[in-house]
Formats: sequence, structure tokens, C-alpha cells
Amino acid sequence: MKNRAITALLIPLMLATFGAFGQNGRILIDADGSEYTISRHIYGHFSEHLGRCIYGGFYVGENNTAIPHTDGVRTDVVEALKALKIPNLRWPGGCFADTYHWKNGIGPKAERPSIVNTWWGGVTEDNSFGTHDFLNLCERLGAEPYLAANVGSGTVEDLIDWVQYVNHPGKSPMSELRRKNGRAAPWKVKYWGVGNEMWGCGGHMTPEYYANIYKQYATFMTDWTNSDGLYRVASGANVADYHWTEVMMRDIPRNLIEGVALHSYSFVEWNDKGSATDFSEAQYFSTMQTAQEMEELVTRHSAIMDQYDPERRIGLIVDEWGGWYNVEPGTNPGFLFQQNTMRDAMIAGLTLNIFNNHCSRVRMANLAQTVNVLQAVILTEGEKMLLTPTYHVMKMYSVHQDAQLLPLSIDNLQYQLGGASLPALSASASKDKDGLIHISLVNIDANAGHTVDIAVQGAGGKRLRGTILHSEKLQDHNTFEQPDKVKPAEFRAFKKTGDQITVTLPPFSVVVLELQ
Ligand code: AHR
Repeated sequence: MKNRAITALLIPLMLATFGAFGQNGRILIDADGSEYTISRHIYGHFSEHLGRCIYGGFYVGENNTAIPHTDGVRTDVVEALKALKIPNLRWPGGCFADTYHWKNGIGPKAERPSIVNTWWGGVTEDNSFGTHDFLNLCERLGAEPYLAANVGSGTVEDLIDWVQYVNHPGKSPMSELRRKNGRAAPWKVKYWGVGNEMWGCGGHMTPEYYANIYKQYATFMTDWTNSDGLYRVASGANVADYHWTEVMMRDIPRNLIEGVALHSYSFVEWNDKGSATDFSEAQYFSTMQTAQEMEELVTRHSAIMDQYDPERRIGLIVDEWGGWYNVEPGTNPGFLFQQNTMRDAMIAGLTLNIFNNHCSRVRMANLAQTVNVLQAVILTEGEKMLLTPTYHVMKMYSVHQDAQLLPLSIDNLQYQLGGASLPALSASASKDKDGLIHISLVNIDANAGHTVDIAVQGAGGKRLRGTILHSEKLQDHNTFEQPDKVKPAEFRAFKKTGDQITVTLPPFSVVVLELQ
């Protein structure tokens, strides 16, 4: 790494200078950078056939005259996601994926069979949103599709046919069928999940059994694109099931796997999730505790992967994460529709900092879920649409996409409640292709603002500006009556002296600084 020796000399010097600032939080950023890039795919999303995510959220039907759309897909949602620089979208599940038979969702819509969504609310759906609809949507978004294949109730043949249908450029049974259905060019789908939560809704398998099944499926997945190959992701561990990751890494040969998944949600208590908007500080504290556990999860799953893959070729793919609460009163419990407050902004800010800092192993992540489900970035009601606090954090952080990671160390402050304490601050930093340095900061403390001294060598001659997401109350959220109650604003509470920056972060706030 260039300038390592200079950095080694500068760090003690800067720490000595910091001493003068007193009891502030302290962050030291290595502006020489690292060899790692923060993949834009860390900023990915997830859309399942669940509640009003696809139907009503993305898709309102070709015949809808009340809501502007293209081929039935809402224009407002597409525009909002483009503004977010959405890099990839996972579909069609989730648990739904292992019940989904893709051939039911192609061809003339009037002839498609109806199915019952057994996982989510037992509703009947008519398969009007299928493979063409999803892949065309991804093209409009400029996002990579990430298809989750049905392993639990599907067959190897179904999956290899799906790969051929969407990717084969020449003449083959499935590419001919695709052409007959109106699409000549293949979509070149690179990212494939081989089943979902195989330890649970995907079939309640042991990792040893699934590893064998995975190898069988992966062996027959041909890369018809003749480009840089498919990216096959093995269904991963439930939270801290480290044995699962160990077995995937141990039993699956390197030539059959590109990624291993991990799922982890944040909540108050799994069996008593509480309201999304009406929560106490103690409930907030518990949610932050589960969100911060992501640091340990990513560290320990990565350490296992390091033993089998020291060159870090295989990615850790956190393809479901986010906050999970009780559904909004009066809504279908199977639809997982919840509001989104400043608490969710805290989850998003601190989790994305963790992923950024672990980008040497975390290559992709998918927030659950894009529209109207769990920690959504967008909520819709009829023709109305609003952006949640989580949307604003994702947009503020989008500056990190494909930027070079700048490693940092934090001398943290504590957020205390009832004798327990959590680290109050979280941060990550990157340098983009134009040389701009971005620093994202979160203060989860519900009561205290915190002053933080940040040292970035080489910052001296640069102009500093910032954006903040903050609101009066932790419970604040956007509604269709008040869609802009929580929105980003210019951040001015900083002082810059040479390479030192001092910022004051209000309680429960997210700030992104830019050094130009
Ligand atoms: O995101 C909701 C559900 O949570 C997904 O369908 C499943 O994979 C997970 O348990």
C-alpha cells in the first residue's frame, strides 16, 4: 500500500494532537486508502411476492388509468429507485422463492395460472408479474437482477431451464420460447441465489444435506452468457449459525460457488416485536443492540470463510437485513407492512457502515424489502408514494458505491440506558474516483448529542460540506399527509482546522460529510 510509512508516522502525531480536544469521540481516517472497493452491490434491495411489495408497490397492472406506469410498473417508484442508484434487486423471494414456478409467470397474461401465496397471507395471485416484467424493470432501473431459484419445491431442470431462458443468446428450446414471448436478446442475468433459508422455509434441511443439493443444482447451471460467468450464491446462515457457513465453505468445491448468504434482522424481541412507531427508549435500545450484532456476525462468518478462502474470492452476501416490527394496526398480518421512523434510519446508517468497513468480504447486501414490506425505502397508498427515513439514509450513503474504502479507527463514546451501554458512534469512509472523500457518521444515542474529532491527513486544503438526517423525536416518520416530516438538510455543525474536523452530532442523527 502506498505511503504506508508516512501514515505510520502521522498516526501517532494526530493522536497526540487529539489529546487537546478532551472527552470527545475520536475518529482517525487513513486517507491513503486500502486495496478494497466498497461494492455498489452492498446497496442492493429485495422485492418479494409478499403483501404489497410487488402487487400495488411496483406493479399496478397494464390497464391502470389512475397511476402513471410503463407496462404496469409505477413510474414514481422507478424514478425514486433510480435516484437512489439502486445497484441490484433480488426477486421473487424470500420464502416465496421456494414455492415459485417461473414457467407460470411467462406468456400471455390472460393464460397464466393463478397460485396461492402460501407463505404470505394465503392470497391468490394471477402471476401477472413474472420473469419478463421483473427483468425489464431491472433494465429500466439500471440495476442487476438477482434471481432467487426454487430449490425447496422445484427441480434442477426447472432451474437450468430458467437460466437458459433468460441468458441463452443462440437457438435453444428455452431461448426460442423467450423469443416467442416477445424478447429477442437475453437479459444476461449474473446473480443467482440457489434456494432461500434452506434451514427453514426452504426445506428445513441440515447444512450437510443442503450442501449436496447445492452442488447438484450448481453443477448444471450453465453460463450461457460466455462473459464473466454466473455468480451463484448458496443459501446462508440464520444469524449466528456459524456451523452453516463452515459446512458451505468446507463441502462445496470452489468452482461451484461465488457467494454464501447470511440473513439477520433487527428487532426488539423476536416474539414481541412491538409497534413500528409507538416504542419506548428501552425498545429502541434493544433494537440498536440487535442491529449492532451485525458487526460480530460479519466478523465471525468472514473469519470462517478466511480459513477456506484466504484470498477472499467468495463473497459474504447479506441478502436479507433490516428492522422487523409488528404490522401497522388493521393491516393483514401476513403482509408485513410497517412504518419507518428515525429508529430505522439508525439501523440503516450503522449497518451500512459495518458493511462498508467489511467490504473485503461483504460483496452484496439486500435491504428487506423495497416497497411496503418491512424496512421499506418506499411506501405507497393508491396513487400516493412517500420516501421513508431509510430511503434518505440510503441516498446519502450512495456516495460510497464503488469507492475505495478508507480504513478508520474509532475511540468511541457510550450510549447508556438502565445500566447497559452500547457504542454511540459508528462511521465509515471512502474516496471516490474523483478523489472526493466521504465520511458517514451515526450517533445512536437517544438523548445526548456528541462531539467527534476526526483526523484525515491531507484534508487541509479541501472544502468540507455535509448533509444530516435528524428529527425531533425518534418516533418521527413520514406519512401521506406529511411526506417530508423527516428529510435530509444541510449540516453545518462542524469546524475544520487543517487536517482536523470537529463535528457535533445531535442525538439519533446520521451525517455524511464530503471533503472536496
Ligand atoms: O423478508 C421476509 C422473509 O424473511 C423472507 O421471505 C424470508 O427469507 C425471511 O425469513
